[in-house]
Parts: sequence; structure tokens; C-alpha cells
Amino acid sequence: MCGIVGFVGQREAAPILLDGLSRLEYRGYDSAGVAVVSPQKGIDVRKAKGRLQVLSDMLHGGADMQGRIGIGHTRWATHGAPNDVNSHPHLSEGGKFAVIHNGIIENYVEIKEFLINQGVHFRSETDTEVVAQLLEFYYNECHDFFDAVGRVLRRIEGAYALGMLCADCPDRIIAARKDAPLLIGYGEGENFIASDVTALLPYTREVTYMEDGEVAVLTTDGVAVYDALQQRIAKERCHIDWEVSSAEKGGYPHFMLKEIFEQPEALRRAISPRLKGGKVVFEDMKLTAEQIRAFSRVYIVACGSSYHVGMLGKYTLEHLTRRSVEVCLASEFRYSDPIVDDHTLVIVISQSGETLDTMAALREAKARGAYILSIVNVVGSSIARESDDVLYTWAGPEIAVATTKAYSTQLAVLDMIGLAFGEALGTVDGAEYAQVVSELEKLPEKMETVLAHHEDIQKFASEHFNHNSIFFIGRNLDYALGLEGSLKLKEISYIHSEAYASGELKHGTISLIEEGTLVVALGTYDKLFDKAMSNVVEVKARGADVLALTTESHRAEMEKTVSNVLTVPDTAAMLLPSLGVVPLQLFAYYVALQRGCDIDKPRNLAKSVTVE
Ligand code: F6R
Repeated sequence: MCGIVGFVGQREAAPILLDGLSRLEYRGYDSAGVAVVSPQKGIDVRKAKGRLQVLSDMLHGGADMQGRIGIGHTRWATHGAPNDVNSHPHLSEGGKFAVIHNGIIENYVEIKEFLINQGVHFRSETDTEVVAQLLEFYYNECHDFFDAVGRVLRRIEGAYALGMLCADCPDRIIAARKDAPLLIGYGEGENFIASDVTALLPYTREVTYMEDGEVAVLTTDGVAVYDALQQRIAKERCHIDWEVSSAEKGGYPHFMLKEIFEQPEALRRAISPRLKGGKVVFEDMKLTAEQIRAFSRVYIVACGSSYHVGMLGKYTLEHLTRRSVEVCLASEFRYSDPIVDDHTLVIVISQSGETLDTMAALREAKARGAYILSIVNVVGSSIARESDDVLYTWAGPEIAVATTKAYSTQLAVLDMIGLAFGEALGTVDGAEYAQVVSELEKLPEKMETVLAHHEDIQKFASEHFNHNSIFFIGRNLDYALGLEGSLKLKEISYIHSEAYASGELKHGTISLIEEGTLVVALGTYDKLFDKAMSNVVEVKARGADVLALTTESHRAEMEKTVSNVLTVPDTAAMLLPSLGVVPLQLFAYYVALQRGCDIDKPRNLAKSVTVE
């Protein structure tokens, strides 16, 4: 949430900052701003409410600002309405400091009162402005930029990734991090900060992830990183091998559509290296079979779509390991006094690896002694770094706010964990293991055949985009799949939608079904197909318009009752949701397209949720 970028070098800063922000806009798009500093003119700040394009047009792509060092920000509003004044960068009253911030300063009210009593005048309603004002306040005492930053960091509480400029030190940016992502990029005679590596792909692939409590001083000549005690420390660099093109639309109208179509390839990357000689082999996992056998409790903890992957994982892990698995929303887990000890495994799922709720749950579980195995997409992200073990999904950068390829690869990795654990525990049936492995190998190809039928889904969406409310129903795996289909639809098309376990309908919800209500009935799970059919008949009897999703082998039977039937190829039962999710993603996409929604940047949302 909120994207930040900083540049110091020999080139004009503003165009680079705007370009970097354009790759971070998915983190927040309420407003945007940049500040550059030059020895002659001091700090120049420009900002504008709305999308980055508004600011970029206002600055003629950055040509209107002169200065070779600067910071930029794209905002997801927390404190204060999205308007020009509340946009970052924030300037101190005397104009000496400019600050960009991602996170929340929790004790800002108290600091603001203190500064007001000292005669400081505030302009905005934000928590961030206190950082700029406090910097100037301390600087007036100590006359040293670095020292003033140290004093500010000791005074503020909360989460922050900060980029700071000082008019008296026009050769440097100071950056600081606590509980919000921030990385340093190393170029030739130029250096960068950014919330996310995608901002830096055209400029450098050599990066360092800052840790909590660290402060960095960036100049043209180099970067010095200090720990919380202000001792200089050496940092390891990592090389990022993502292509620039992977963070661009590549001819697709939206990132979301591109990422939906990238799923077969992403699945190949997640699956192929981990299947060897008919077995699941996690060379990248440290857990031993002995450790797996010693766990007495297993949790899966995540948010949003990653939580939906966890719901599916519960069904498959319990089936394959015969151990009970609890799936928890990360935001609830940390406050639920969870029963966790050193015989507990917590599987944490996160695309971004930066979701604050998930991170907090991870820390809570770790503090209670749990072993943390995470499934993460972004290499080197906070969750990956703080886990005991991490399995990467290798989905490549996901830019659209609504997740698609990350979901699919998380699911494949979790399925493989189920197989590996089942084998370690001796609980998985040999024939089933062999069948699932063989079907995992074919999964990307089968997904391609589902994608090939995208026009059928587009046609259906063009006839059904005007509903006020849509229901998804299914049982077991199909229920968990319905939750994801429903979330996709509501987040990008703004249509109210609910997912129900079909058997639960008659306990209350069926009262909402009336003539013309659209019900998406999921009946892919062979074992429960007859039950799914009964529920379809029930809703049809009450006037529902049904779109059914089933397998090829059940198409004919479904068509006897339902005229709109989508199918996926037959595969192992536990892999059906991996195929079934694709038509649901496409349905949400095409409905949102028909309704003229801003698909990649839905209202009120942001890609990486780094506030609680
Ligand atoms: C929905 C979506 C969100 C995320 C959730 C967790 O399309 O993308 O629900 O799944 O915010 O994010 P990560 O996986 O980055 O922790």
C-alpha cells in the first residue's frame, strides 16, 4: 500500500521517479507526488489528486522539474481524504525537509499536539506530516540530517518505509524501514529506493532488502546502511532476474487478462522443477520427513485469495495426510490466542510477502514456537525472509490488483506439499499419488484448453453483466472455489456477490433466490456431482438463471437441466479447482469490462496491503 521511489544520480530525477511510480501504481492510486532537490532552488514538491497520469501530464513527463535527486509517492489513503494537500511528499513548515511514507505512524496525534504547542503549523490531516515537521524540529536543534533522522525514528511508533530529503544536504536521500517494505537498488553512478522491485527493473537488478530498524544514506557514489544503533553494516545484495517485459502489458488491454493467460506458463515454472521421476521433490525445502511426522498441529494462515487457496489446501491436506488442518484469516489469527507450540506447523501463504496482517500472524506464531513454512511469490520479501522455510511460486510479477496467476501457483505448491507430507506420513494412497503427479504434469496444458474457450465466457458475460447480485454455490472443493470466484467478481466489477456451500442454501439463503437471480453453480467435483445437481434444480425451481461449471464428462448430464454450461477437462479431483478457477477469473474480467470498470486498479483497493 502506497508506493515509494527515490533516485540519486547524474540524470534528471523527475522522469525516472514518474516512471518508477508508474510501475508501483498498483500499490495505491488516490494521488501521486514527487519532490526534487537542487543546490540552487532547494526542495520543489509537486503533487496531484487522482491517478499518476494527472501528475505526469501536469509536469510534462517530469520535464518541468530540475534536480538530480528526488523522491516520489503514489498514495492509498489512510489518514485524511485523497486530495492534493494530503498527498505526499510532505514538506516541513520551513521547507527544509520533504518526506514520503508508506505505513502508519500510530502516535502521530501525540506528536502533532507536541509540535503545535511548539508553534509548528500543520497543513494536512495525515500522520506522515509529523515526520517532516519533527525532522525540522530536531534539525533546528542538532543541525545534522542523519542525527535528526535518528531522533525522529526513536520518537515515532508504528510502521514505516520512509524516504527523506533535506534542502541543506542536496546530495543525499535518507531512507528508513520498519514493518513496511523498502529496498535499495544499486546502479552505475546512481542509486535508488523503492517499495517494490518492479519500480527498478529498467534501471537495475542489483538490490538489497532493508530490514526493520535499518537506515540507509544514498548518494551518487554509494549507499551506506546503518542498524538501529546507527552502526554501519554490510548488506548482502540479491540479483533479480525478472524481465522488464514481465511487468508490462505486452499487447493485452489489462494486466489482469495478461496474467490470466500467463497461468499455464507460471504453473510450469512452479511445478516442473519439483517433479522428478514421478515424485514431488522440494529441493528448496529444509523440512525433513522426521520433522513433518513430529508436528501435532497444522495451521494455514493467509488473507483474501491466498486464504481461499488455504481453504482448498485444508481439504487436500486433510485428505492426503489424515491430520486435521485449521485455516485461519491472518487478521483473526493473531488476536485469537491461537494454540501454537513448538510442535506446530504454520503454513503462511502470501503473493506479495508483505501483507501486514499475514506478517503479524507469522510473528505471533513464531514467538509461540511454531515452524513457519511460507508460500511466497516475491523473492526476498519480508515474509520470505522471516520464515523458517520458503517455497517460491515463481509466478513472476503480478501487477493487476486482483490476483490470478499467484493464486494458481500457490494452489499448485500447496497441492505438492500435501503429496510430500502424505508420503512422509505414509498416509497417501500410492495409486492416487501417482495419478495426481501425472495430472500435475498435464495441468498447464489442460489449463490452456480452458483458456482457449475464453470467447464462450466473454459471450455469457456480455449477456449477464447487469445483475445487482450474483451467487456462487458449490460443495467441498467447489465451495472454496466459489469463494474465490465471488471475490474476483466483486472486487473488480463491484457487483454484490456471495459464495455459499450449496447444502447451506436451504438453511436461509435460498430466500434470496427469485426470478432472474444469477447463480453460478459449481459442480466439478465428481464425488458430489449428484448433490450439486439437486441444488441446481432447487434454485432453478425458484426462478434462478444458472451458469454451471462442470467437467467434460458431466457436460451432457448438466445440459439436461442447465442451458449455460462451461466445462473444464477431467483431472484428479484435488486439481479441479486449479482448472475451475480460470473460467471464474475470465467471467469476472469480462463482466467488469462490460461495466466499464478500471479492472487493474479497482476502487479502494491496493495490491500490497501493508496496513492493518
Ligand atoms: C484478491 C487479492 C487479495 C490478496 C490478499 C493477500 O484478488 O489479491 O485478496 O490475495 O490481499 O495478499 P498476499 O497474497 O499478497 O498476502
